[in-house]
Amino acid sequence: MKRILISIPALIGTVSLNVAFAATETMQHQNHHHGMNTMDTRISLELSEEMKQHQLSNMREHLEAVNSIISLMSGNKFEDASKIAHGKLGLTPEMQQMCSMFDNERFMTLGLAFHKSGDDLGRVLKTRDVNASLRALNKTMQYCVECHATYRQ
Ligand code: HEC
Repeated sequence: MKRILISIPALIGTVSLNVAFAATETMQHQNHHHGMNTMDTRISLELSEEMKQHQLSNMREHLEAVNSIISLMSGNKFEDASKIAHGKLGLTPEMQQMCSMFDNERFMTLGLAFHKSGDDLGRVLKTRDVNASLRALNKTMQYCVECHATYRQ
């Protein structure tokens, strides 16, 4: 009998703790949804329809370039991977021109730094050093992440 008396408060304690946990979890879940889905607090670049399509098609090429680089690296084709890095992610005259069309100084600066990192990646890939190449690719991809977190069309 004594044992039962002791264990009842313990049981109640456990149950209420679980209820409290479930409540916080639900709240966090709801907050998460509100924060992620209904509010886009990124800075708008206020692009024209034409610029929007141009930018998105460029972006899809950037993604394809990263995919090709990883694929070529895995096949030990560093020379080809380097060419893609310079040609598709680097600061080519075409990319220079594209970046200078935006009416936002900080966005342009970020874009140019991104393309310079693409050229750095191209140079590192030529050394055939896998770890150094991954570090350089990581740096380039941090620009993708940073820019997407800050700006929208
Ligand atoms: C200097 C800024 C900047 C950098 C750097 C950048 N992007 Fe973007 N990207 C954008 C913006 C702005 C959009 C439009 C996002 C929006 O309006 O929601 C976009 C959209 C995209 C899209 C969507 C394309 C579509 O058709 O919907 C992809 C994919 C993408 N970027 C890939 C990349 C990859 C991969 C990298 C890096 C290798 C990269 N981007 C680097 C600014 C950037």
